[in-house]
Amino acid sequence: MKNIAIFASGSGSNFQAIVDAVKAGGLHVNIKMVVCDRPGAFVIERAKSNGMPHFIFSAKDYDSKEAFECAILKQLRSHDVEYIVLAGYMRLIGPTLLTEFPGRIINIHPSLLPSFPGKDAIGQALAAGVNVSGVTIHFVDEGMDTGPIIAQQIIDIDEHETKESLQGKIHQVEHQFYPAELQKLLGDYA
Ligand code: GAR
Repeated sequence: MKNIAIFASGSGSNFQAIVDAVKAGGLHVNIKMVVCDRPGAFVIERAKSNGMPHFIFSAKDYDSKEAFECAILKQLRSHDVEYIVLAGYMRLIGPTLLTEFPGRIINIHPSLLPSFPGKDAIGQALAAGVNVSGVTIHFVDEGMDTGPIIAQQIIDIDEHETKESLQGKIHQVEHQFYPAELQKLLGDYA
């Protein structure tokens, strides 16, 4: 089975969905560790309660992106990680990790890319007044949400949609979609 690390910055509901899919037998990968750039993020509690090794760091404790990515890389190597799965990791991946994992970093983004890249994709979609948005799973390159698209799902935006309601719909889709696409991409069919 392929060894993956999950990178997250926030609540980690996608992390949990991936863990649950592995436990339920629908996703055949080894989750070797969690990487989190926000001490205090709820994903750390989830990692702990799932008995998952984790590396937590603060960018401000390092001189540069290269420095903290080198620290991450050391951890990834020590856990034999082959693929990086971003699940709400709110930082651009730099050359250190891109060079070590070419075509082996996957991201999920809460919009139909190339629309609404970057931060607050849900707020951007609502502000633009579009009546559809969605979820994109893509390979990561050096740009901001610009890498080759793997799969997308469309989500309707209703007339009285709020940020919270759209966030909820997006999460509901993501929690099924991400594990299923990861299985197609990385999963062993034992
Ligand atoms: C997810 O909706 C994910 O698509 C988004 O962050 C959320 C994390 O939720 N990612 C991005 O915006 C990346 N640019 P979670 O912490 O509950 O999994």
